Amino acid sequence: MRIAMVGSGYVGLVSGTCFADFGHEVVCIDKDPAKIEALKAGRIPIFEPGLEALVADNARQGRLTFTTAMREAVAGADAVFIAVGTPSRRGDGFADLTYVYAAAREIAASLSGYTVVVTKSTVPVGTGDEVERIIREAAPEAEVAVVSNPEFLREGAAIADFKRPDRIVIGADDSRAAQVMSEIYRPLYLNQAPILVTGRRTAELTKYAANAFLATKITFINEIADLCEQVGANVQEVARGIGLDNRIGSKFLHAGPGYGGSCFPKDTLALVKTAQDAGTPVRLVETVVAVNDSRKRAMARKVVAACGGSVRGRTIAVLGLTFKPNTDDMRDAPSLSIIAGLQDAGARIRAYDPEGMEQARPLLPEIAYASDPYDCAEGADALVLVTEWDAFRALDFERLRATMAAPVVVDLRNVYRAEDLARRGFRYTSVGRPSAREAGA
Ligand code: UDX
Repeated sequence: MRIAMVGSGYVGLVSGTCFADFGHEVVCIDKDPAKIEALKAGRIPIFEPGLEALVADNARQGRLTFTTAMREAVAGADAVFIAVGTPSRRGDGFADLTYVYAAAREIAASLSGYTVVVTKSTVPVGTGDEVERIIREAAPEAEVAVVSNPEFLREGAAIADFKRPDRIVIGADDSRAAQVMSEIYRPLYLNQAPILVTGRRTAELTKYAANAFLATKITFINEIADLCEQVGANVQEVARGIGLDNRIGSKFLHAGPGYGGSCFPKDTLALVKTAQDAGTPVRLVETVVAVNDSRKRAMARKVVAACGGSVRGRTIAVLGLTFKPNTDDMRDAPSLSIIAGLQDAGARIRAYDPEGMEQARPLLPEIAYASDPYDCAEGADALVLVTEWDAFRALDFERLRATMAAPVVVDLRNVYRAEDLARRGFRYTSVGRPSAREAGA
């Protein structure tokens, strides 16, 4: 199959590269000439484990190419994927579809022969209808079908998620288009990934429902963690106790500083807006959004409390800035609100992140950046773990203790054991777990 991928951002680049790796002929398109030049030279604009090697391999085999010229790429394609950004619109939180519709108009001008146009960007219900209307209006003669094929991959595990998905959802109201899509995903039949062929609107809503459900699961366990702290229970054991029930499932029950990233915050907001417009508000999701927002600031208060009630003039060492490990993505990262809260309370911040500092600098211009965790903690009055990078799991706490001004650790990801830190002389606070004293250490 010949595939054109419109938009070489996160989803476009990963999907395009993996499709090429399946054996398809893929052209990744982007408006940004600098990005395309970099990709042609083998430089990957994002940090994603394994992606650089996979791009290089498929480019070498000639199956994966990059261009800014939409017209030729689309004209030669059996399927054109739209994988452009859908950021939250300022003001109302609705997904901004400007880029999707602009892509649809450009695609319409370039179509030749039967072509399946696929929205892979996360788009609100009914967007496929509008994309189809735009294309039919601009190119009434074109033989085209518009399909929805939402992507469920996670940053940091994107290639594995793409190649071994739990399921593939295809929203096609046309059987010929469904056939083309099945052909594109054929290599995954070998992995026995279930393919759900459904209506276009159903596919669009499935993506939002999945992300909203996962965000709800995280928010639920975060509130249970707060309750655990008040009543002396352990949230990790509660999570295990409920997660072993197959109806609940054990994943996405890690309590922490609140969810962030490029998807959950924006997709939950967009679902809230869609549901309000449809006259059937999803009040549960509205509450999830509000609870998660306030949680991030609450984490700053937690740090202040761990420091004895004030951080004015103190130095706080922050480990981890990205919204989760194995990415350099800072979008809606909890660290942003936590650091703002600590700065408002008068603290000085010194931070370290293995991959995220370059992206963080413009967003957090008034903090100091360290060269490693030990440099970060030197002279600090508290060490706060915000993102659970593997590099932070096995720190030398004796060494840290020797250089810190005060022995305070706030672990917002429940990575360390209370007993271990207490033994090394730290005052240790985590999320929804008893202190070492309460745990009997
Ligand atoms: C998510 C979805 O998982 C994916 O299917 C969709 O396509 C895009 O959005 P991603 O944003 O890359 O993927 O990251 P994910 O691993 O889901 O984590 C999202 C946020 O939730 C992170 O801030 C993470 O720290 C947080 N989280 C996740 C928790 O706090 N607890 C958990 O148990 C799981």
